[in-house]
Amino acid sequence: IQFNQARYATSADKLSQCPADSLAEVAFAGRSNAGKSSAINTLTQNGKLARTSKTPGRTQLINFFDLNLPGLRLVDLPGYGYAKVPVAMKTHWQQHLDTYLQKRDALRAVVLVMDIRHPMKEFDEMMVSWCQKTGMRLHVLLTKADKLTRGPAQSTLLQLRAQLQKRLGDRVTLQTFSSLKNQGVEELRAIISDILLA
Ligand code: GTP
Ligand code: MG
Repeated sequence: IQFNQARYATSADKLSQCPADSLAEVAFAGRSNAGKSSAINTLTQNGKLARTSKTPGRTQLINFFDLNLPGLRLVDLPGYGYAKVPVAMKTHWQQHLDTYLQKRDALRAVVLVMDIRHPMKEFDEMMVSWCQKTGMRLHVLLTKADKLTRGPAQSTLLQLRAQLQKRLGDRVTLQTFSSLKNQGVEELRAIISDILLA
């Protein structure tokens, strides 16, 4: 897969607006401001592909990006848990996230993006449980690794790996990542290629 050839395809705010199920897609999920859109931009080496922002709640639609091989896509999901988003919108999004996750046949894996300094908050736990229940493949991206020194970053990784593998076995993988430092990019590309081309 030539990730740098990824192109914006379309946006949807509910399942019925999503493009037809294609071959395979991988969705980036996580709390608001965790770094999902930045991770997509780093992965594709295209700083303008997914919109990022210092203000949480930037991504409010499900955004689809076509990869260079037909039928393969990346999906940027709105962040979860942003307190200032109106309740009605939160409820709307929670329902649509649920439907997207449950009904999307093309979905092959969830990339759960967590700030390495604040892993496994309530939303993250929900996603892990959902993957455990449904058998969905999970890749955990511990991002903003540049905010920690190597020791603490590695120990968070190892601890979380042990914990999650106990629950999900070999259906879960984890890595550290930094969009700022371009760290972990090759590892992420290899994992996503494996998943999408399987
Ligand atoms: P929502 O769309 O609001 O859910 O947020 P998001 O998860 O897409 O986060 P986004 O990529 O917009 O990044 C949020 C903030 O974190 C921005 O200010 C980014 O510059 C910053 N950020 C993202 N990744 C990293 C990283 O690896 N290191 C550092 N230091 N900052 C990062
Ligand atoms: Mg975003």
